[in-house]
Amino acid sequence: MTLNYSFPENFWWGSASSAPQSEGSHNGIKGRDIWDHWYQTEPNRFFDQIGPSQTSDFFIHYRQDIERMKRIGHNSFRLSISWARLIPGGTGEVNQEAVQFYNDVINQLLAHKIEPFVNLFHFDMPLELQNIGGWENRKVIDAYTKYAEIAFNLFGDRVKKWFTFNEPIVPVEGGYLYDFHYPNIIDFKKAIQVAYHTMIAHKQAVQIYHKNQDGEIGIILNLTPSYPRSQHPADLKAANICDLIFNRSFLDPAVKGTYPHELIELLADYDLLPETEPGDNQLIESNKIDLLGVNYYQPRRVKAKEDLPNPDSPIMPEWFFSYYEMPGRKMNMYRGWEIYEKGIYDIMINLRDNYDNIRSFISENGMGVQDEERFLKNGQIEDDYRIEFIKEHLKWLHKAIEAGCNVRGYHLWTFIDNWSWMNAYKNRYGFYSVNIKTQERTAKKSAYWFAEIAKQNGFND
Ligand code: BG6
Repeated sequence: MTLNYSFPENFWWGSASSAPQSEGSHNGIKGRDIWDHWYQTEPNRFFDQIGPSQTSDFFIHYRQDIERMKRIGHNSFRLSISWARLIPGGTGEVNQEAVQFYNDVINQLLAHKIEPFVNLFHFDMPLELQNIGGWENRKVIDAYTKYAEIAFNLFGDRVKKWFTFNEPIVPVEGGYLYDFHYPNIIDFKKAIQVAYHTMIAHKQAVQIYHKNQDGEIGIILNLTPSYPRSQHPADLKAANICDLIFNRSFLDPAVKGTYPHELIELLADYDLLPETEPGDNQLIESNKIDLLGVNYYQPRRVKAKEDLPNPDSPIMPEWFFSYYEMPGRKMNMYRGWEIYEKGIYDIMINLRDNYDNIRSFISENGMGVQDEERFLKNGQIEDDYRIEFIKEHLKWLHKAIEAGCNVRGYHLWTFIDNWSWMNAYKNRYGFYSVNIKTQERTAKKSAYWFAEIAKQNGFND
């Protein structure tokens, strides 16, 4: 059968999840991380006061969940390892129950011909390490590198696709600029130091991996194309600064091995440059990734600032640009985010033209929906809006592939509706819904649709 949208052979079809959002804390067989701690100290900040221990309990139900993945056509699945589960306290002894759990998950996935894509850090710093400053403290880089090495040695014989970090800019933004992640400090200079240390940790892990292992290693970045309001030089400059801070600060060193000189100049002008150590430049230059995961949800719409910043206010990225609501933009009214499907194409073309056509895949894309039960009919959530969302993004991805972009797969965020940080269960993204009291899972309409396109390796419109 010829399909209008047919994807390359061995295209990766699947979904993505993370340990802290799906496993369930099961404390006792896991050390505490910053989310356990933050929830305990400030439960009111979490939607409906639901914390990280109330999840779909993948820790218990993984065998049946992996069978579900197989049923809906997954040939690949992204999970993360919980650092605080594998090494409670972040350093020291390895937890043998965690080793057994992750071994079993990996073996089950492989037995079902689902390739595990394993990420090492999805926002979940072990509390003990946060207590000494987290990514602000260079000692944490060595602890992370040790953890990475342990994970590679334990699971690297079977896991051949590794990721050092998911969306490393998010803990920087959330934890040090905009108050939505722990330690909820507002300090641009610290934010830059944290971003820099995260990159050094990433590079050390890549170095160790390439020395001792034989698969691929990369990073997962949430790339948000930064579109200027107009072609006016002031709008272009504003959009460029936004891109430098939120995209290129990780993308360039990870793929090219260098920071953009314009970013360095900007940071130098405002006394924001991070502290470095001898040897860092060499480390950054030499250890480039093999594979890039791209998370894409929405772009940023940027215009020049109309007012000069108040010099008495603390410096923030928004000193240099403003966001604006583009008239007529399409919105996901169930989540409040813009939907701009062509963004996925623009990202890929940028990677093709400016990043040596790095091998990549869509590691997250998805549609969050509040109160999704309202679409329940005859026991199933009829999420036609999600099918439409995925399909339109896939069409642009297909176009990118036709244009020669080196993109190898598509993973939906997420497999089963999960706990999402401060938003807890506010926005639902899964192929499956879950009742967190009974743990009953129900496939949504999109799960059946996805099973078909994965089987056919494409679709007709
Ligand atoms: C992604 C993160 O950026 O957004 C996920 O990697 C997160 O961890 C997802 O759950 C959805 O976020 P939200 O705020 O809509 O629940």
